[in-house]
Amino acid sequence: MTMTTQQFDFNGRNIFIAGGTSGINLGIAEAFARAGASLAVMSRAQEKVNAAVERLQEFGSEAIGFSADVRDFQAVETSLKEAHETLGEIDVLISGAAGNFPAPVLGMSANGFKSVIDIDLLGTFNVLRAGYAFLKKPGSTVINISAPQAFVPTPLQAHVCAAKAGVDMLTRVLALEWGDQGIRINSIVPGPIEGTEGMARLAPTKESQAAVAASVPMKRMGTKHDVAKLALVLASPLAEYINGAVIPVDGGWSLTGFGDLMKTLSMQFKS
Ligand code: NAP
Ligand code: COA
Repeated sequence: MTMTTQQFDFNGRNIFIAGGTSGINLGIAEAFARAGASLAVMSRAQEKVNAAVERLQEFGSEAIGFSADVRDFQAVETSLKEAHETLGEIDVLISGAAGNFPAPVLGMSANGFKSVIDIDLLGTFNVLRAGYAFLKKPGSTVINISAPQAFVPTPLQAHVCAAKAGVDMLTRVLALEWGDQGIRINSIVPGPIEGTEGMARLAPTKESQAAVAASVPMKRMGTKHDVAKLALVLASPLAEYINGAVIPVDGGWSLTGFGDLMKTLSMQFKS
């Protein structure tokens, strides 16, 4: 127990979270703030950035924020540069910005497909490509926030499936390219997480949320805290030999496949 407490002391460590202003990613930011880290969060909406920074400062942590779109490489790079100037070298870089809407392939335009690919996949490339210069070497950790759709083919989610599969492949390739510089990179794969925008979009009603919970082997949705705990472990010395891994924190959900579940849920989107 004593050892665990020491491992989760992030005092003096700097965490940058792209898409860190709401939901699962803000939950991760809060966990690091509680553990004493300094935080930089980035997303598009200035009001969300301001609210997240205020929230993180409540933990007594240094927190700064940036408004930028992950699809804009220059804007991402400027945010990371300013975070580096203010906080110092980045110890933990997290790429978690994402977009999602439920639609069959025939119900989505090329631009709709592209918008999710650009946010999730190109956005992750931008964050990692620009972030590399500001990472502590050796000794830093990169975490990509993926999704079960990366490896479970899912109706109404072709864009997310393709984008997150790409994100996980970036994780694996960069584990090979950056490992010898002492940078570890892993993907976290959250399952269905209660009280999030992602779940609100896929299962907007109480009934559909109950169906999702019932489909999880552990018979409940996950919490933001469930995901944040894995992020703390991956960024800690406890995970010092874990590199290039794609790790679900989903109560076993992705083992079940959920094509039938999504077909059931899709009934709610039919007029
Ligand atoms: P969320 O609250 O909507 O979080 C998305 C974050 O990304 C927000 O901070 C959003 O802020 C930011 N963002 C979106 N588009 C952006 C862009 N173009 N540029 C910069 N920032 C952008 O959603 P969530 O449900 O918690 O999801 C968080 C992560 O977990 C995502 O990577 C998602 O794929 C993954 N995930 C979620 C679930 C789930 O059950 N919810 C399951 C599996 C995986 P702005 O609007 O201000 O830009
Ligand atoms: N069904 C089909 N197509 C849709 C759609 C839906 N429900 N919602 C958006 N689209 C299409 C739009 O029609 C547009 O295509 P078009 O130009 O051919 O008409 C395309 O997607 C882009 O939409 P736009 O609103 O301009 O994109 P954006 O870049 O402002 O926003 C989204 C990106 C669509 C992903 C938006 O939902 C978003 O910002 N999401 C972030 C939050 C989120 O999704 N959180 C959950 C994370 S898991």
